Amino acid sequence: MDTPFSTLIRTASQEAHTEAETSTFMGDLLGGKLGVDAYTRYTEQLWFVYRAMEDGAEALRDDPVAGPFIQAELARTAELERDLAHLHGGAADWREGLRPLPATAAYVDRVAECARSWPGGFVAHHYTRYLGDLSGGQIIRDKAERTWGFARKGDGVRFYVFEGISNPAAFKRAYRELLDGVPVDDLEKMRIVDECKRAFALNTGVFRALGAEFPLSA
Ligand code: HEM
Repeated sequence: MDTPFSTLIRTASQEAHTEAETSTFMGDLLGGKLGVDAYTRYTEQLWFVYRAMEDGAEALRDDPVAGPFIQAELARTAELERDLAHLHGGAADWREGLRPLPATAAYVDRVAECARSWPGGFVAHHYTRYLGDLSGGQIIRDKAERTWGFARKGDGVRFYVFEGISNPAAFKRAYRELLDGVPVDDLEKMRIVDECKRAFALNTGVFRALGAEFPLSA
């Protein structure tokens, strides 16, 4: 295959990216049309997803395919927990009674399944979230700070702040090199690309569910 894998996966997921980016919920949220309760609910869903991703990563550290992608500076669970404590007014018991939306539970199940039984699939999920967070995530942070008045890079938006990554562009370049060198054959690469599309669809599903929960009353 002549096309570098990083280009292939990016090109293949472009359409799904546009769909996720332009979802009604994201548009309303970033357009400043929704309250901080919607942002909180969204952040809660992310917490379930990243816990699945980061719990699952533990067993894959030494895996030849997924292992190199697992890097401590990407981990987001602790940041999400700080954000959520803040979003819940500093309440220590914010976890109590917190349940994932069905769409989030489906996403979590798929991530856990890949982590357990398919390292290539896990890479697809890893790419879809972390490379996105390092890119468009910065736009979301900026909007969130302005809309709901969070301190710049402070509690509420720590999820979007990668303290251990001083140069995101260089990090993304190195990440793409990892993708290009992933030790799998062309057929497996195609399967990973398909899983990436599925990962985007799972994200879109969560947005759809959130959109139904926070319709604009206009
Ligand atoms: C409103 C929401 C979003 C905005 C504004 C946004 C914006 C962006 C931007 C500006 C880039 C950089 C493109 C480039 O390097 O030329 C990017 C890349 C990316 N985004 Fe998003 N995005 C959003 C939502 C999402 C979602 C929901 C996902 C998936 C869960 C996602 C996954 C990705 C990925 C994987 C990349 C890296 C593409 C690559 O370089 O291989 N994005 N996004």
